[in-house]
Amino acid sequence: MLTEELRAEVARLKHERDAVVLAHYYVPTEVQELADHVGDSFALASLAATLPASTLVFAGVRFMAESAKLLSPDKTVLMPDASADCPMAHMVQRETVDAAREKYGDDLAVACYVNSTAEVKSWSDVCVTSSNAVRIVFALPQRNVLFIPDRHLGRYVAGQVAEKNVILNDGYCPIHQAISADEVRALRESLPGAPVLAHPECGPEVTELADVAGSTSQIVEAAAAGEARDYIVLTVDGVRGELERRCAGMGKRFHFPPTHPVCPDMERITAEGVAACLREGSGEVGLPPEGVAAPARAALARMLELGASR
Ligand code: 13P
Ligand code: SF4
Repeated sequence: MLTEELRAEVARLKHERDAVVLAHYYVPTEVQELADHVGDSFALASLAATLPASTLVFAGVRFMAESAKLLSPDKTVLMPDASADCPMAHMVQRETVDAAREKYGDDLAVACYVNSTAEVKSWSDVCVTSSNAVRIVFALPQRNVLFIPDRHLGRYVAGQVAEKNVILNDGYCPIHQAISADEVRALRESLPGAPVLAHPECGPEVTELADVAGSTSQIVEAAAAGEARDYIVLTVDGVRGELERRCAGMGKRFHFPPTHPVCPDMERITAEGVAACLREGSGEVGLPPEGVAAPARAALARMLELGASR
């Protein structure tokens, strides 16, 4: 629980360690309250590469902290709970990449969603996030693009970039995939005219029903800019905090699927965990071996070059 004592202790420890706390929108509200920056994956990766602090506390899942370490190898990167991992990050096999490279040769690019391990990134030519995947895939010189690991984001990108032959892998986010088209239809019936804002990790039968498909930040922007009062939001419930902050005083209401999507790994991050890693220097994220770190870093750096998020 976030008490005034804990808040004061975190402020003091951040100062002593020259640390900043970065939090993803999906972590619990009390953790977002302690953070210096709250954002989507792309915003947090860009910040990790540029912030001057010598320690980054990454309140999110492992691939996010690992990307921060790859982009800023001289910084200390701490995770409040080092076991917080994204299952999708592991859902691709090396053989899939090798087979596509063999089939398409130089006319293939491997585009890797940042929700992936450093090793998976090291097999890839460029990373993308949900906020810039369409733009980056479109900008690649190759016509064939193997999209890993997320089949749903890959399929969404394929639908937006008809010029490319997008080859899909079979990874997925269990949380977004569990949002059903039936519950979305029921929400739409009970809220006629409410815009449907979906994360593209949702299945195709759900994104098909959406008025806007985009990253968590793009969902927040769409809700803030919209004229409607009610919004149907198809992503993890943690984003509600940012929706309420951004739309404070506008009288807007946000309706999430009744199955209540939460990411159990993001929920592992607690206010006490943030304080403990600052206190003890625990949960430090190391660099992978250079043979993995160098190509993974290159794929991330290419994303930052190509991928202004809007
Ligand atoms: P964003 O790119 O919107 O931050 O999403 C990250 C994520 O893990 C979605 O499940
Ligand atoms: Fe991974 Fe899904 Fe959790 Fe995002 S919501 S971190 S994709 S398990």
